[in-house]
Amino acid sequence: MRHIGTQRLETNRLTLRKLLPADAPQMYQGWASDPEVTRWLRWEPHRDAAQTAALLEAWALLYPNDDYYQWAIAETAGGRLVGTISLFYSAQGRDLDAAAWRRPGVEILGGVWQAGYCIGRPWWGRGYATEALRAVTAFWFEQVGGPWLACAHAAANPASGRVMEKAGFTFDHTDIYKKFDGTPVDCRVCVLTRAEYEERNRI
Ligand SMILES: CC(C)(COP(=O)(O)OP(=O)(O)OC[C@H]1O[C@@H](n2cnc3c(N)ncnc32)[C@H](O)[C@@H]1OP(=O)(O)O)[C@@H](O)C(=O)NCCC(=O)NCCS
Repeated sequence: MRHIGTQRLETNRLTLRKLLPADAPQMYQGWASDPEVTRWLRWEPHRDAAQTAALLEAWALLYPNDDYYQWAIAETAGGRLVGTISLFYSAQGRDLDAAAWRRPGVEILGGVWQAGYCIGRPWWGRGYATEALRAVTAFWFEQVGGPWLACAHAAANPASGRVMEKAGFTFDHTDIYKKFDGTPVDCRVCVLTRAEYEERNRI
């Protein structure tokens, strides 16, 4: 595995690129201020665009790290931002309990790489999350050389589970993840291994 940082990715309809502090107004209005979106995420809605801008300033300092993966999802036609998608290293819940993971090809080595995403409400139901997750998954296996990837969604949020399923992930085990404020959330953890990815894409 060779980390190469947040690279620009193109799909049929979307451009995945680094977020810039100048994106704060679109991000705040599009999804970061919306409790219907953050309901399923670890963080709370932002109070104002200044909070979003401060976050993006902090992310700007992280982009030089080769193992930092945080993309804006933009419509290629027009450039409008519709959401974000990330790859992150996580160790919470049963992430480090090797016995919890049931998939051949899954080895727990001090943490778990996972994908996370959100799309602003005006753009739900257009297939954007699936298109972005497929692109990031291809990037992970083909460019970074990752061995497997996890993705977890709240059990009460089946739309996200459907996105994972369409991108090739399948259910592995249940877990309880914690929001940043400590609230526990029953989650379904899904997995895609390299062998499954290659089989699916007939590589
Ligand atoms: C979940 C979310 C990412 C989906 O984004 P999206 O761009 O609308 O997703 P897609 O259009 O690619 O696919 C959504 C799928 O879920 C299905 N779906 C929608 N609501 C559903 C529900 N209540 N139960 C089951 N499936 C549902 C859709 O029908 C679609 O599947 P289909 O193509 O087979 O019809 C988006 O709603 C979101 O950002 N929500 C808030 C944040 C979030 O949940 N992030 C994920 C955290 S794990």
